[in-house]
Amino acid sequence: MSELSVRNLIGIKDLKASDLNLIFETTNRFLEVLNRPIKKVPTLRDITIANLFFENSTRTKLSFELAQKRLSADVINFSSSVSSIKKGESLIDTINNIISMKVDMIVVRHPSEGVASMISKKVKSIIINAGDGSNEHPTQAILDTYTIQQKFGNISGKKIAIIGDILHSRVALSNIYALKKLGAEVCVCGPTTLIPKYIKSLGVTVETNLKKALLWCDVANVLRVQFERMKSSYFPSNREYSKYFGITKKILDDLGKDITIMHPGPINRGVELSSEVVESDYSVILDQVENGVAVRMAIMYLLASKL
Ligand code: CP
Repeated sequence: MSELSVRNLIGIKDLKASDLNLIFETTNRFLEVLNRPIKKVPTLRDITIANLFFENSTRTKLSFELAQKRLSADVINFSSSVSSIKKGESLIDTINNIISMKVDMIVVRHPSEGVASMISKKVKSIIINAGDGSNEHPTQAILDTYTIQQKFGNISGKKIAIIGDILHSRVALSNIYALKKLGAEVCVCGPTTLIPKYIKSLGVTVETNLKKALLWCDVANVLRVQFERMKSSYFPSNREYSKYFGITKKILDDLGKDITIMHPGPINRGVELSSEVVESDYSVILDQVENGVAVRMAIMYLLASKL
């Protein structure tokens, strides 16, 4: 297969395993480009891309922008916090104005579920979801699974524990879809209050004991406690959360086995991961960020062929 089965990247749910494998193969080629002295290629010359961020971001926004510049695209950036949204302009008027500027591709992050999908039904530009509420964060899941494949050679049969705030996490949902499509075994682990009731229907197991999850898995993808999305109290205190679900280097050393620690960022240091773990040889957190640029180059290159 040499092209993606979708025109827009809204969620991993819509992709086939062959789409993920095609993105991985293409990422390998762009990773090579990024390690050359001249990192820029003319692949997306004359393509205009708008990055629309209605929610804060460091990694995703910068990674998309760098990937677009490496591909020689023309890039415009929109942040709602410094836009006319602050004067009361609606989402749809904002989008219509940006589309009028003849934009070929839109990367959108929004705090509400379904916004990327809604935009894709109203405009002809290609849409890439950079995170919609607690729904999906497809490019994060692709860079996470790519990083696992890079480390282990393949994903099929690998045991991945997704640990932390599963309830509010778009990264968890997109990772579960991607890992299951690629043949991994997946366990989610966290306090019962932060595990959605439907989760077992996605073919994952549930573990509430951190040590058991860590002993079981090859890779622990540790998620941020998303305080900003919590409408009530899900655990008594940060100290209590950290006592039962915080990962320290001693916990990992005491397992007496190899384990890889991932985190999509941003990290609450001292809550879900100690600083020592973040900076240890267990961690591939910065490899995830490095791979993210090549993964996003691959996705935009493959989607641009649909224009
Ligand atoms: N991983 C991730 O989405 O990070 P940002 O919120 O900084 O983009």
